[in-house]
Amino acid sequence: MRADSSGKKEGTLELDSVRKDELFDLIVKNFPVGLIVLDSQENILEFNPAAEDITGFRKEDIRGRKCHEVLLGIPCYLSDLKESASEGTVLVHAEGSIRHKDGHEIPVRYTAAPLIKNNKLKGAIAVFRDVTKEKQLEQHRRVLISMFAHDLKGPLSVAGGLLLRLKQEKAGPLNEKQRQYIDAVLKEVNRVEKYIKSFLDIVRMEAGQINLARELCDLTRLFADVIDSAMIKASQKGIKIDLDIPEDMPLIFVDKTQFQRVILNLLDNAIKYSPRDSVVRIRCRDTEKNIMITVEDNGPGIQEEDLPYIFDPFYRANYSGNVEGCGIGLAIVKTIVEAHGGKVWVKNKKPPAHGAIFCLSIPKHTPASR
Ligand SMILES: Nc1ncnc2c1ncn2[C@@H]1O[C@H](COP(=O)(O)OP(=O)(O)OP(=O)(O)O)[C@@H](O)[C@H]1O
Ligand SMILES: [Mg+2]
Repeated sequence: MRADSSGKKEGTLELDSVRKDELFDLIVKNFPVGLIVLDSQENILEFNPAAEDITGFRKEDIRGRKCHEVLLGIPCYLSDLKESASEGTVLVHAEGSIRHKDGHEIPVRYTAAPLIKNNKLKGAIAVFRDVTKEKQLEQHRRVLISMFAHDLKGPLSVAGGLLLRLKQEKAGPLNEKQRQYIDAVLKEVNRVEKYIKSFLDIVRMEAGQINLARELCDLTRLFADVIDSAMIKASQKGIKIDLDIPEDMPLIFVDKTQFQRVILNLLDNAIKYSPRDSVVRIRCRDTEKNIMITVEDNGPGIQEEDLPYIFDPFYRANYSGNVEGCGIGLAIVKTIVEAHGGKVWVKNKKPPAHGAIFCLSIPKHTPASR
């Protein structure tokens, strides 16, 4: 490689000689995904060319403006990140939407983190990617699978009905072995029926065909039933469920049945993937605009490569092979939470601790949310 008169090697980037702010500009401009930086008041400080391409906004037009006024969706509320900041675990991986300049919404996948200095929240940074094409493909796949699932329902319920008749000895007496086999097959048929029903629920909910019956609910009461039913599995593994709800917790505005389904799925996972004799912790917090709920376990956590996909229907991480499941629980969680205008994401505990922390944020009740 040749050297110029100053002795620098041609073609190499001499980082030392580039002033820090020039380097910062260079990185921001060339960053291959959308990048946004907010100050502590949620005003937009930085917005790179990739972000301009995705949203149609020019940096000059929106710099200094409130993030939620311009972009709506992306993590514009630092209160969402405060909770994670105080725990020391900082990354939020999630899906959301962002508003294009012409008003339409663009689906994005983003990773956000608070900017902390001297233990003070100074702002936030997020990188995001337009996932419109992935979403369209996903939607196409979903329509096909839902047609398939729908067509399976009929024969399965016939098979279930006939098995039940056999079990009731309507076709003659059974010996013990035959009864055992019928019970085992019936259990599997019921399981598949349950999955098909859940999957079709997701599709209908996403298409806006399920109306939520939202009401103001007391979180302590809402959790009581869910924990009761989760305790059966938990106690088989010696797992304790620790529920932390502050006394002055406001009521939450949700469809009680659907919301209990969310918590039950998260608890079911936490119990399934936790080691024996550990603790699953549920925490509820009242933040400025949202009610935050976290479900925390001491299991293996989620591997980096699985993080973007675990909320997709039928996705299961490799390590979960010997744990029973079908990969639909988290897809249900996400659909229900989003139907409530909320968000769900997951992060891992900071090493040396291990375990997953699933976080939900549900917008607080205001007269406008009725
Ligand atoms: N608490 C957790 N700890 C570790 N991995 C988890 C946890 N929760 C979910 N996962 C991973 O995410 C995947 C998807 O979870 P999901 O609840 O959708 O499916 P599942 O539990 O495998 O089956 P089911 O449909 O019965 O819920 C799981 O297979 C597992 O790999
Ligand atoms: Mg599950």
